[in-house]
Amino acid sequence: MLKNNRLGYGVLGLGVGMAHAEAAFSSENADLVALCDINNDRLSDAAEAFPGAAAYNNFDDMLADPRIDIISVCLPSGMHADYVVKALRAGKHVLCEKPIDISLEAAERIEAARLETGLRCGICMQNRNNINMRPIKEAIDSGRMGKLLFGTFAVKWFRPAGYFSSTPWRGTWAMDGGGSLINQSIHTVDLMQWLMGDVESVTSKMALFEHDIETEDFTASLISFKSGATATFISTTCAYPGLATEICVYGTDGSIEADADRLLTWRMKDSPDYEAEEKAMLKKYGQGNSLSTVPVGHVSMVEDIIAAVRDGRDPQILPTEGMKSLRIIRAIYDSAKTGKQIML
Ligand SMILES: NC(=O)c1ccc[n+]([C@@H]2O[C@H](COP(=O)([O-])OP(=O)(O)OC[C@H]3O[C@@H](n4cnc5c(N)ncnc54)[C@H](O)[C@@H]3O)[C@@H](O)[C@H]2O)c1
Repeated sequence: MLKNNRLGYGVLGLGVGMAHAEAAFSSENADLVALCDINNDRLSDAAEAFPGAAAYNNFDDMLADPRIDIISVCLPSGMHADYVVKALRAGKHVLCEKPIDISLEAAERIEAARLETGLRCGICMQNRNNINMRPIKEAIDSGRMGKLLFGTFAVKWFRPAGYFSSTPWRGTWAMDGGGSLINQSIHTVDLMQWLMGDVESVTSKMALFEHDIETEDFTASLISFKSGATATFISTTCAYPGLATEICVYGTDGSIEADADRLLTWRMKDSPDYEAEEKAMLKKYGQGNSLSTVPVGHVSMVEDIIAAVRDGRDPQILPTEGMKSLRIIRAIYDSAKTGKQIML
């Protein structure tokens, strides 16, 4: 703890870690005190952008900095558990980037270390805080949508060849744990299970259409939920030039459609004037996070772990919550590889 009850924040890995650094730097409740990367160009750029933060090119040196209370771990996905566990055992609270790691065994190691140390550990799944998600979740959980029948989810993104060639861990089974599904689409897998409930089984196919990588750039799945509902899920990095993130849920008493953080359709059977209600909802939630008055994106996750440490509460997304999307993703890959339906 620093002066004035402010927490000391460190960031490990300075790709998307720069968004964590920016959020900690701008926080009213923490100071960005340390940055770490083995890439010296990235490290010096970050040190220039965030004056006052110490720059380390070795994680052990960063861990020894007594001013640090919280570390954001923003390394390649297959490195998460090793570094999160090390940070927790060194007495630091942790915000871990998504996915929690690439295997459930690694994810379990994070949860075991959290329980063993009693420290705070959150997983960065910021899309649950998109401005349109609260009303959608409330409409479902309150029963207003009736019984959920089906959902359609599709992450129709595009990544050029250079995205993979510039960063060798991406698109590898060993470090990315897969392709378009685990890397680009995990947030939408998470939202699917968060909105529609526990998954019972998956039947999937995958393909590698046009990238020079070892994993996939397309998956298609039929998802069965324990509730009896069904969903389709598409992930791809081949939809030129990058199109929608479709999040659509249909119940006996209502239909909701969204594209990422923007609400597109809001039709409720119990509404006295469903057109007026939809118009009002689209005015409020149809333009995405730009109109948000509450923290969204990485700021929401960084502020959440800071508040969790300060107030002695759990962070918003515990490791057990981060495992839910990973379990579905691993089942999708198993199904696509074996050609069998996989029960969860
Ligand atoms: N939440 C989100 O929306 C979001 C967005 C992008 C990436 N991510 C996740 O964040 C993680 C990082 O992705 P990225 O795109 O920033 O990758 P990246 O390759 O651009 O950045 C990773 C950084 O880690 C550094 N690094 C590697 N090994 C290190 C070590 N031993 N010590 C210190 N630094 C080391 C690398 O030099 C690199 O700068 C991935 O798990 C990815 O899935 C999440």
